[in-house]
Amino acid sequence: MNFELSIVKTKEIESDLELIFVIGNDFKHRFVQDKKLLKKAGFSGAQDETCLLIGKDRLYVGVESLESPALRTAAATALKALKGKKYKSMKVATYTNKGCTYSLRAMVEGFILGAYRFDTYKSKKNKNKIKDIVISLDEYNNRELDIEKASIQVHKAQIIADATNFTRDIVNTTPEDCYPKVMASIAEGMAEDVGLTCKVLKPKELRKEKMETLLAVGRASRHRSRVIHLTHKPKNAKLTVTLVGKGLTYDSGGLSLKSGSGMVTMKSDKSGGSAVIGIMKAVAELDLPIEVHGFIGAVENMIGGDAYKPDDVLVAKNGKTIEIRNTDAEGRLVLADVLCYAQQEVKADYIFDFATLTGASVVAVGNYTSSIMGHNKEVQKLVVDSAHNSGELATALDFNRYLKKTIKSEIADICNISNVRYGGAITAGLFLSEFINKKHKEKWAHIDIAGPAFIEHAWGENPHGASGAGVRLMVKLLEDLVSKNKH
Ligand code: BES
Ligand code: ZN
Ligand code: ZN
Repeated sequence: MNFELSIVKTKEIESDLELIFVIGNDFKHRFVQDKKLLKKAGFSGAQDETCLLIGKDRLYVGVESLESPALRTAAATALKALKGKKYKSMKVATYTNKGCTYSLRAMVEGFILGAYRFDTYKSKKNKNKIKDIVISLDEYNNRELDIEKASIQVHKAQIIADATNFTRDIVNTTPEDCYPKVMASIAEGMAEDVGLTCKVLKPKELRKEKMETLLAVGRASRHRSRVIHLTHKPKNAKLTVTLVGKGLTYDSGGLSLKSGSGMVTMKSDKSGGSAVIGIMKAVAELDLPIEVHGFIGAVENMIGGDAYKPDDVLVAKNGKTIEIRNTDAEGRLVLADVLCYAQQEVKADYIFDFATLTGASVVAVGNYTSSIMGHNKEVQKLVVDSAHNSGELATALDFNRYLKKTIKSEIADICNISNVRYGGAITAGLFLSEFINKKHKEKWAHIDIAGPAFIEHAWGENPHGASGAGVRLMVKLLEDLVSKNKH
């Protein structure tokens, strides 16, 4: 998809289709040229309501307000509404919230995210036909916009939305086609394209690094486990951030086998690791002036004679012993070792992990929202705010000392599941906390993306399937860290 910014009024731009947003039901605005027709068609202008006037080659989409999340979703809806239509080019005016060009970024992100289709396994490809979008700097409230600032935002939007779609592609790929070795080669290929370094640890090195817990989870699979380490290291970087991702290329539950229906969509258990790969791609392309490391534990959790078992006691990289009572609580075991490894390898100012860790997170906060845990309220707030500013949803869940006691074990240092039924997202977070060094506790936040990572019924800018949750959130957070450190 190509974007062009133009100082020419929309009227004078040639294109197959014009897209017009109706903001806050204001049909009197000069942009709305077909008021009567729209009324006749029963178009009320509600958020994400669309009306395509074929004869006029105009598409109207309702938007609640000029806030970025509303515009982003409406832009995605516009592209979804054009599915199957023949239009190849489109023109649109500029809509900003008090002149801030960030709205432009939101709109462009919406177009690219809304145009996404995953058709690898379809014999007939139904690609989005819109190739060229001209954005006129004719602004909704007649504000003067700086074309350079505007074009920077368009460029950033392209990088971020493309990285999100890249993550979606990895997650949507079947477990038959995307197993740990493949995930590692995807990371290596991306690293080569954008100029990152990529180190891949195979079982021999993993054994040497004493990552026995991670290895135990992957033991019954015919696909050997991998740990991937991506590095973005610009000169004179003043800040270092470590990202860790759960990359379960398939989670059958292991011997504590999932139900038939519970297993469907478990190709999405690699969403955290895939998000880290996408974030690293965007970080490199944006050339952010901070050091960023991405660590991914790529493992397949299967059954077989060699499988790890409930009743086993495993030893994690930091020497802690773990009583296994459920092999389906495997993500925390993989992350335990990768978190230890990441802390050994890099001295970071912040550590964030991404994981589709618990069904309990979905029960607690719903399908649309990630839950954010940690020991430092400010770091948690940083993540929650970045999510909201980037078009994702997140909410903080607090640890407490009562839940902490529920992962005690009679025979080992800790148990991999809680002895109570409720609060499962928090007890999983508390388990991970056992693998964060004391001096790093305040720098760490755990992001459970189990709800929004994989979408059964399309919502917002997300189609069915992988959403790329975590990518936009973290890129926004890193960008904000950069600007805060400049002053
Ligand atoms: N990958 C799942 C969590 C999950 C569930 C992600 C649904 C997305 C949608 C994880 O490994 C798991 O199975 N967790 C168990 C933990 C339990 C055994 C303590 C769960 O949530 O049921
Ligand atoms: Zn599991
Ligand atoms: Zn899992």
